[in-house]
Amino acid sequence: MSNEYEVLPLLIELAKRSCLSGPKRISKVEILKSMGTTPWKLRKLLDIAEEEGYIEKKYFGRRVYFAITQRGRDLLSRVYDDLRRVLNYANATVLRGQVVPGLGEGAIYMSIPMYVEAFKEILGFEPYPGTLNIRLVEEDIPLRQTLREKKIGFRINPYKTNREEYGGVTVYKAIIMGNGVSISGGALDIDKTKHGDEILELIAPVRLRDELHLKDGDTVEVTILG
Ligand code: CDP
Repeated sequence: MSNEYEVLPLLIELAKRSCLSGPKRISKVEILKSMGTTPWKLRKLLDIAEEEGYIEKKYFGRRVYFAITQRGRDLLSRVYDDLRRVLNYANATVLRGQVVPGLGEGAIYMSIPMYVEAFKEILGFEPYPGTLNIRLVEEDIPLRQTLREKKIGFRINPYKTNREEYGGVTVYKAIIMGNGVSISGGALDIDKTKHGDEILELIAPVRLRDELHLKDGDTVEVTILG
């Protein structure tokens, strides 16, 4: 997780040299030039990327070939998706609301590994264990329906085991702003919730009440990136 951005430039360079489509030989001299790095650092990055499962080395005789794994491809796709969304800011939907206390539901969700894993995969961070609830201003409530129709959210499908039943959630990538501070996080549309459409649940890598200095009643602006 912490190494994602460290290996990203290397993954981009390997992708540009067709390593997404299978094991390829690469010219280290040329990659060193593109990345402006030292042989020592490149070797270290290749080791990290391999250890973390972003790339695979294959040997054919004495020759070494490099391939980007599914995990590597997923990282590139997520970064691509994030960039597309933030660069496309003009298409964003802004929802405004006030901070309200919740029902403790959020913390429950955020302690179930299947949701935590899914949020990590979609958003690229491990969320703070809880949700911040905001009550949307009246005129922004209908925008939730508009968002559902736009289908820009990521679905976590409901699923059942013998003992438990987990409800479905739609996750939106979002920029959460309060008291002039912006944070990259997510907004949740929970299939089965006690709340109505007026309550929006937010998740972030940090505790928003602390990072954005929020108290109940403060205004928060959520920019949904589509
Ligand atoms: O009880 P409630 O549903 O409001 O909250 P929770 O999900 O158990 O989260 C615990 C507390 O942390 C609440 O006061 C949330 O508003 C807050 N929180 C936050 O500030 N930032 C987050 N990313 C998640 C939760």
